[in-house]
Amino acid sequence: MKVLVMNCSPVRNGATAEIVKIVTDCLEKRHDVKNICIDDYDINFCKGCRTCHNTAKCVQNDDVGRIIGQYEWADIVISVSPSYWADIPGQFKAFIDRCTPWCNTHDPHAKISSGKKGYSIALRTGPGMRECERIIASIEHFYGHMDIKCCDSLGLCSVEYKEDLECRREEIVEFCNRLDQMNPEHVPDAEIWDLYNENRELIGKDHVRGEQLPIDGYHLVVHVWIRNSKGDYLISQRSANRPAYPLMWECVGGSVVKGENSLLGAIREAREEVGVELKPENGKVLFTKTRKVIDGRIYNDIMDVWLFEYDGEVDLSNATTDEVAQAVWMNRSQIKELFDANMFVDTLGYFFTEVDKKRR
Ligand SMILES: Cc1cc2nc3c(=O)[nH]c(=O)nc-3n(C[C@H](O)[C@H](O)[C@H](O)COP(=O)(O)O)c2cc1C
Repeated sequence: MKVLVMNCSPVRNGATAEIVKIVTDCLEKRHDVKNICIDDYDINFCKGCRTCHNTAKCVQNDDVGRIIGQYEWADIVISVSPSYWADIPGQFKAFIDRCTPWCNTHDPHAKISSGKKGYSIALRTGPGMRECERIIASIEHFYGHMDIKCCDSLGLCSVEYKEDLECRREEIVEFCNRLDQMNPEHVPDAEIWDLYNENRELIGKDHVRGEQLPIDGYHLVVHVWIRNSKGDYLISQRSANRPAYPLMWECVGGSVVKGENSLLGAIREAREEVGVELKPENGKVLFTKTRKVIDGRIYNDIMDVWLFEYDGEVDLSNATTDEVAQAVWMNRSQIKELFDANMFVDTLGYFFTEVDKKRR
């Protein structure tokens, strides 16, 4: 997920900036995170002319559009705002006022793309939470009129300087963990895997996809062959933009992510890649193979090969990723033709002896 964390204070190295840093450190392992500070932008005050009510555009030309550009980039916006006189700082308020062209209370109005999620963090020096709640309410009011869905918030009282945050880190990390849990479907950008030992026992360590696996840590991989009652298999062609094996044909497959088991991973991969909803009771593991070090490279995966019976519809527009260019039901000889033409992923050659054992 693309996460924009905005320092809504004009102070670039104060307590607000420190919270932005802690949030970024927490989220950037699994998300694409960008930081901006309101003070990096020139924002004029709104003049209240209401021209935008008719034109959906502001008569002024400054940096507001640049911040909106960052909003447009993001799937999630996290606004971190201190209390200045029991409210948001003036610079942030000036920005919000200038977002009136995007405000959904009048037509025509400009629009950022839909589906964005908004989070708020408020901090203050005084002890009472009510003032934080007021700041959060201001930010959420703004999100609401921008059609950004308000998802969660955090108030931090008794904070003046960044040193005051040393004992508050846990609350901020907890907030980030909640955000992660609420956005699980977007993990693939920076997939996290559970690590297992050679005996398939969890070892209590996470692994970020793409990083070097430890020599003693294995991860679960699923290959998912989907067969209909005619005995044909659902075979997919990898999209042209895939870094490995572009446009080659294969079965559904991928890595099991943190918190999943092999079955849930198989069902999720089918949903993501070809948009089909497999039923757990229709699947079985045909065999499992463990790969270790091959030609000096650590593979360390435990591969479950699944076979699912499925007679439902296949509509690629239901897929939640663009990993697959097309999905086609094929019989054994059609699959063989693709193999012989070197158009099938070569590591799947076991199909003919282990999956479709009965020659037709
Ligand atoms: C101009 C100004 C006004 C402030 N007003 C309040 C206030 O009304 N209530 C409060 O609890 N803290 C208030 N504070 C304290 C800030 O909310 C607090 O120090 C916060 O940590 C500042 O973060 P920053 O340095 O990143 O901007 C104020 C600070 C400043 C600079």
